[in-house]
Amino acid sequence: MTGEIIEVLFSEERIRRRVQDLARQITADYNDRSLVLVSILRGSVFFATDLARLIELPLSMDFLSISSYGEDSEGVVRITKDLEENIAGQDVLVIEDIIDTGFTLKYLLRTLGSRNPKSLEVCTLLDRRARRIIDMDLKYIGFEIPDKFVVGYGLDYRQRYRNLPYIGILKP
Ligand code: IMP
Ligand code: MG
Repeated sequence: MTGEIIEVLFSEERIRRRVQDLARQITADYNDRSLVLVSILRGSVFFATDLARLIELPLSMDFLSISSYGEDSEGVVRITKDLEENIAGQDVLVIEDIIDTGFTLKYLLRTLGSRNPKSLEVCTLLDRRARRIIDMDLKYIGFEIPDKFVVGYGLDYRQRYRNLPYIGILKP
């Protein structure tokens, strides 16, 4: 499997340290409030569960699954599994694996925002700003990455590689 990875961008140790930093920052920012982590399936699950373990706040976790229609879908996104809980009046933090064009996130924020949360912010593991089309305010960013397709630590190529403990660039 590792032979198909041409470069390791972020090692397991580096990811662990960065997730720790983010958790510390989130714990400080939200102070004693309680938080709803909304993990977007499936890519953000590894990140969300690691992060949650390090956040020292009362929190709950919920999951949302979406599918987008092909490559040039331009934001045509459909919820295939909705949240279990009502987020009205709650502090909500959306956990994403990667923000690329921004179309997916724009749809998500519009949908979740219409449910009247007290606050709605985003924590993304990766940010590929070079490909951004929809500009958005991302409160927490793990790493910025170059314009290369990456896998591992939750991110897949055709459902494979999610279980790699590091993030790497796949052989094209
Ligand atoms: P966006 O709507 O263009 O921002 O697409 C973001 C979604 O595309 C992410 O949530 C991922 O599921 C997927 N994606 C984008 N780039 C990559 C990548 O390099 N590896 C794996 N999945 C990716
Ligand atoms: Mg995704």
